[in-house]
Amino acid sequence: MAFSSSPPLLNLLLLTTLIVSAQQQTVLPSCDVELLQLALNFQFLEAEFFLYSSLGYGLDTVAPDLAKGGPSPIGVKKAYLDRLVRDIMVQFGYQEIGHLRTVMQAAGGGFPRPLIDLSSTQFSRVMDAAFGTTLQPPFDPYANSLNFLLASYIIPYVGLTGLVGSAQIFNSTTTHKIAAGLMAIESGQDAAIRTLLYQRSLQRVFPYRFTVGVATDRISRLRNSLGRAGVKDSGLLARKNRTGGHSMGEIVVWGPDSLAYARTPMELLRIFYGTGNESLPGGFFPVGVRGTIGQALLPGSDVNTTCLL
Ligand SMILES: *[C@@H]1O[C@H](CO)[C@@H](O)[C@H](O)[C@H]1NC(C)=O
Ligand SMILES: *[C@@H]1O[C@H](CO)[C@@H](O)[C@H](O)[C@H]1NC(C)=O
Ligand SMILES: *[C@@H]1O[C@H](CO)[C@@H](O)[C@H](O)[C@H]1NC(C)=O
Ligand SMILES: *[C@@H]1O[C@H](CO)[C@@H](O)[C@H](O)[C@H]1NC(C)=O
Repeated sequence: MAFSSSPPLLNLLLLTTLIVSAQQQTVLPSCDVELLQLALNFQFLEAEFFLYSSLGYGLDTVAPDLAKGGPSPIGVKKAYLDRLVRDIMVQFGYQEIGHLRTVMQAAGGGFPRPLIDLSSTQFSRVMDAAFGTTLQPPFDPYANSLNFLLASYIIPYVGLTGLVGSAQIFNSTTTHKIAAGLMAIESGQDAAIRTLLYQRSLQRVFPYRFTVGVATDRISRLRNSLGRAGVKDSGLLARKNRTGGHSMGEIVVWGPDSLAYARTPMELLRIFYGTGNESLPGGFFPVGVRGTIGQALLPGSDVNTTCLL
């Protein structure tokens, strides 16, 4: 009698094991998910910026399901772009839609679009901070291709350093695969933007007195100072000592051993908030980013992150 009950019990045990291992394959470690959530905010920002500026409309038109009813971005508009730059930005915009879909799915469905400020005023604040002065007239990111490329220079690289940082601590193979795919495309975008600017390095940014090269240098220095974690960023101008005095510039940013720099979630938020403080929202995310990490860092929050920040 005792033996006759064994087969069903074995079957049950086997079934349980199968279910558990199936769950282990699909459920990601909680910190991996939280880091993906953080990245999702920056992908919303990039998607809206590239789509709107090149097409005159964004996620609400192209992929309304992805916005999930989140507020429309503030102040973004179609830029006056030449055909080449417009063509490139349309491609970037559609690339971000794929990234949004992938990361949303991996991060357990994601969340609605956060409030994003992409107004001319926001970009002019960044440029004023970069130059330590009030530019007259205020910098307008949407006025022409060159201004737009400089505005674009402000964004994807920061997200890229964040992905590099997250990839160093992800625990799941699934997350690593996603991160590798995202990083390759994001660094391609950054390289395309930098190359277009590099060709114009010595050109003046009309009507100001500074050149394109100097502007990139100032923006990178601002990001280093807001991040409060040393040099992880540099502009297009020469850093002569890097190649024994022969370097002519820096087409992509390269760190020690020519590897990419990594930034932590806190450094990323300090930069995107423009406040140098991960607990003080502002800048591109006036009310803060969505997701566990961003929420946990807000003052008085009762949300806990499982990541060691
Ligand atoms: C990965 O696992 C280690 C060891 O369990 C843990 O300390 C670390 O926080 C985990 N990282 C993430 C991103 O979950
Ligand atoms: C560049 O290299 C020269 C010679 O080694 C050195 O004297 C100088 O301090 C270096 N400059 C910087 C900015 O590192
Ligand atoms: C960051 O902002 C929070 C919230 O306003 C504040 O409590 C904290 O003192 C600030 N930290 C620094 C280093 O300024
Ligand atoms: C967060 O952590 C604190 C301290 O460990 C705990 O008291 C609180 O219940 C946690 N909150 C949530 C939502 O888990």
